[in-house]
Amino acid sequence: MNNVASDWNPTSWRSRVALQQPAWPSIDELEAAEAALVAQPPLVFAGEARRLTTQLGDVANGQAFLLQAGDCAESFHVAGADAIRDKLKVILQMAVALTYASGVPVVKIGRIAGQFAKPRSKEVETIDGVSLEAFRGHIVNDEPFTPEARRPDATRLVQAYHQSATTLNLLRAFTKGGFADLSRVHAWNQEFVADSAMGQRYAVVADDIERALRFMAACGIDLSRESHLHEVDFYVSHEALILPYEQALTRQDSLTGDWFDCSAHMLWIGNRTRQLDGAHVEFLRGVGNPLGMKVGTDLTPQETVALVERLNPENVPGRITLISRMGRDLIEDKLPAHITALKEAGLSVVWTCDPMHGNTFTTEGDIKTRRFDDILAEVRSFFNIHQSLGTWAGGLHIELTGDDVTECLGGGMGLSEADLGLNYTSMCDPRLNATQSLDLAFHVAEYLSQR
Ligand code: PEP
Ligand code: CO
Repeated sequence: MNNVASDWNPTSWRSRVALQQPAWPSIDELEAAEAALVAQPPLVFAGEARRLTTQLGDVANGQAFLLQAGDCAESFHVAGADAIRDKLKVILQMAVALTYASGVPVVKIGRIAGQFAKPRSKEVETIDGVSLEAFRGHIVNDEPFTPEARRPDATRLVQAYHQSATTLNLLRAFTKGGFADLSRVHAWNQEFVADSAMGQRYAVVADDIERALRFMAACGIDLSRESHLHEVDFYVSHEALILPYEQALTRQDSLTGDWFDCSAHMLWIGNRTRQLDGAHVEFLRGVGNPLGMKVGTDLTPQETVALVERLNPENVPGRITLISRMGRDLIEDKLPAHITALKEAGLSVVWTCDPMHGNTFTTEGDIKTRRFDDILAEVRSFFNIHQSLGTWAGGLHIELTGDDVTECLGGGMGLSEADLGLNYTSMCDPRLNATQSLDLAFHVAEYLSQR
């Protein structure tokens, strides 16, 4: 490609305003962490990011569907492989339900192996007259409300890199080493899911798939030679928020001379940091990775067009994924004008729906939650809007976990406000549990099979 503007380099963002950065107490500590990261190997390769752009290009052209899912915020305190494996299981299950219904490939991207940074609406948190830096995710500081825990600690940047490497290593082993083999489609149904109505519905699809595999084998097709049946392409992504970290992992591709942010395959710009002249847009416009951008209700269609043109001047399909997060009550009102404006400007994008962040509220008991019905309603509107405009509803962007948590209300098991305290473990936003995630996937599978 080598189309990077001559006025860009990995540090050019530093002359712009960078929102949502912690006030690092020691510049020496920060510079030491940056130097340590620069000396580390990349987490992903340019060729992988390039392949993802191509696959997302198929989504942009209406020939594939995108499933991007994972935690709101990953934790440094995850011990062992189980939590990662279970998250992968539910994403694979959702992808099976979606592929089976739609007949198109599902591109799978985790919010994982680097999703450690959180933008905050308030810079400081005040309790009983004491004010401390807000919790910004484990890449910056820690949750407890003490001066020590909340002090931004640059050594965490390096810890985030190592934790990402460990997670990514496990994901590569799971997805390429037999765990994601389609003949194991039943084994992804975890026990507590299998007992639910959704789990049973999934088992029917899994039976069908097994039957189809047996049929193909009986016809003489050597399934052992079909790598697509035994391995899965699974990509990783996170919000590119803490720019010194992203810059330190940005490398020049020796094949093409292009720059890639090698901290993840895909990076997205959050809803609070997408200013046209801001540091985040400046940094990301120069890297060759596929990029996401959140589109909330306060963005105008003209601004969306200007941002897409800035981030993708060559109009490469698959380069930009717009992640609509309007909320169930505003999507009908707000989203169509964005889609139309991009269409009229001739810009190619992937449109995906984040039905989580516009539907968050706090209960009277002061617990942050979301209603499954609101999430579903926003997704349904998203599909209806694209149907009526003749555009492709390209994907879903979801906060979920493979655990049996009680963070979102409703869904198949009808979780109520009284249940929220049972197993609420999210460090940030409430996530769908494995059963609710599968429930959502089956609803979306129906919309996909209807179009
Ligand atoms: C998120 O995806 O966790 C997030 C903070 O979203 P947004 O930028 O859309 O608010
Ligand atoms: Co979130």
